[in-house]
Amino acid sequence: MSSQRKILVTSALPYANGDIHIGHLLEYVQTDIWVRFQKSRGHQCIYVCADDTHGTPVMLRAQKEGKTPEDFIKESHQAHEQDFADCLIGFDNFHSTHSPESKELTQGIYLKLKENGHISSKTINQLFDPEKEMFLPDRFVKGTCPKCGSEDQYGDNCDACGATYSPTELKNPKSAVSGATPILKESEHFFFDLKGFEGFLREWLGADGHVQSEVQNKMNEWLDDLRQWDISRDAPYFGWEIPGEKGKYFYVWLDAPIGYMASFKNLCDKRDDLNFDDFWGKNSDAEVYHFIGKDIIYFHTLFWPSVLEGAGYRTPSAVWAHGFVTVNGQKMSKSKGTFIKARTYLNHFRPEFLRYYYAAKLSNRIDDFDLNLEDFVQRVNSDLVGKLVNIASRCAGFITKQFDGKLSDSIIEPELIKQFTDASEELAQHYENRDFGRAVKQIMTLADKANAYIANEEPWNLVKNDETKGRAHQVCSLGINMFKILTAYLAPVLPELAGKVQDFLRLDNLNWVSSQDVLTNYEINKFKPMMQRIDMKQVEAMIEDSKEDLEAEVKPEAQLDDPIKDEIQFGDFDKIDLRIAKIAKAEHVEGADKLLKLQLDLGNGVTKQVFAGIKAAYDPADLEGKLTVMVANLAPRKMKFGLSEGMVLAAGPGGKDLWIMNPDEGAQPGMRVK
Ligand code: MSP
Ligand code: ZN
Repeated sequence: MSSQRKILVTSALPYANGDIHIGHLLEYVQTDIWVRFQKSRGHQCIYVCADDTHGTPVMLRAQKEGKTPEDFIKESHQAHEQDFADCLIGFDNFHSTHSPESKELTQGIYLKLKENGHISSKTINQLFDPEKEMFLPDRFVKGTCPKCGSEDQYGDNCDACGATYSPTELKNPKSAVSGATPILKESEHFFFDLKGFEGFLREWLGADGHVQSEVQNKMNEWLDDLRQWDISRDAPYFGWEIPGEKGKYFYVWLDAPIGYMASFKNLCDKRDDLNFDDFWGKNSDAEVYHFIGKDIIYFHTLFWPSVLEGAGYRTPSAVWAHGFVTVNGQKMSKSKGTFIKARTYLNHFRPEFLRYYYAAKLSNRIDDFDLNLEDFVQRVNSDLVGKLVNIASRCAGFITKQFDGKLSDSIIEPELIKQFTDASEELAQHYENRDFGRAVKQIMTLADKANAYIANEEPWNLVKNDETKGRAHQVCSLGINMFKILTAYLAPVLPELAGKVQDFLRLDNLNWVSSQDVLTNYEINKFKPMMQRIDMKQVEAMIEDSKEDLEAEVKPEAQLDDPIKDEIQFGDFDKIDLRIAKIAKAEHVEGADKLLKLQLDLGNGVTKQVFAGIKAAYDPADLEGKLTVMVANLAPRKMKFGLSEGMVLAAGPGGKDLWIMNPDEGAQPGMRVK
């Protein structure tokens, strides 16, 4: 085998504001299989990823949920990490772009780009939401398509006619954040000189192996039309501030791929055997591969290599794109229940079934990928249960019951087992080339051979007879050996099964090299069932659950028990003068059974007398000295017991259950409440 390689592998960073779904999983499974294969071959292969946390959508989503962006991304990080772990995605590190490493690297790379003359600035006009006081990303402007007149279209392209345009061309534009009509506003932006990298990119993309050939063709169109890349956004923005430019932030897509480095850096700080510069330095002899989906090729094959080049780092060894998952031949759809979250899938099936299905159909091309759910069930049952595990379940019982749990001294059919071991290098080539479908197909052909051999020998009959019992031992021992080799070949796809087989066969490991060892005169453990058949009912239940996920998301508007009053305009609200008041004096009122009389101190010698219906809830002595909030400009009312010059604010249904507003110590009498 070739000498040990140093390999760093990444999958695209999932957005923090979304759940992991089976579409994402195609990518993480693809990458994970490749990484496990490399590790199994004895290479140093490091797999890092992170959450992509920055940008406007995350900021607004957190706001909507009443959380800080930091708290929000912490929660999704936990959920993502759990989903990935349960899908057996074996990251060496799953970090975050909202991390000290990311900040340091992003700012450092920017400063190097600037120093090297790749950054410029210019003032541009952009749509601005005057109510929310923020610039609007294209996706946050909606309006009428300037080409076909369809309503309610996004600011960048029209769903109805497919036209692309700039948000300023939309007719009757509205902010999707506040509903306000956006205005054009000037702002200084910072640009990365992508155009200046045309020569570098032509060479990089032209070289063999950096991108797939299908991508290369696409690239040539793009290369003719390179523009300066706008890498800044104005506050408010959740991201890293641009050094020296107050209120300007890095656009999320600048720091996102730097997240690959940040995650790796974070790992290096935890491990003695890894050195950041060995992998990212200009003279690195390590290999760096990015697995991505076809929708983000532009960012990874134009921007990213140029940024690395411009800042003095090494560039990727290759960027590998895959296609998009469709379910039953159609785009994943929430209403059809085919927008299946990883968690929902896991509630119905074990992770290895999907991993196997993906592996069986994956190639190194970027065509879309259809997950046909009937085919999925059928494949899992026929290949994994019916072929692979069947080899062991047909042989293991006899070894345990009839032969003291020991495999035979020799191999009865050396030629047959040789076919299994000889497949190793070709299979390795398929894995290496990300041609997993071919590898799986070849492995299943071998499984067919093993099953045919056993069926032909009929060990269940051989054991019945003393003369042939020895042969039964030989046949079953060979069966177990064939099973072991095939499991080792499939271990990158089915790591959990491989673990079970390792226990069953009492092996220290089941990697690519040890797959070649043949076990003779060797004691094994009792066989336990390893995989059960699945059926369409489970699929249907999963689809139903996915529809329920959708319902949970679009809950009908919640109603309070005490419904909210009719809408008022801001001007109506603004008329109410709310003030902090100190309760200088509180006393019972002779003859009133609900009221207390309050003297409210607004500071500067201004006092108001108010009769408040809080007698059942408060003892006057407890109120004196407390702060509260009052309506200070309510017209005075003459009441039975005297003049009331305002109202205090209280919450609750009334009677004993009433609580006056009681602001913190920091508030001062007379302060306006907004
Ligand atoms: N955050 C960016 C990537 C930044 S990388 C520096 C992003 N995130 S994503 O959550 O939308 O997608 C993560 C990966 O999953 C992408 O590579 C994307 O192509 C892939 N997929 C998302 N939906 C998919 C399918 N339906 N099918 C296959 N892959 C899909 O993009
Ligand atoms: Zn249109």
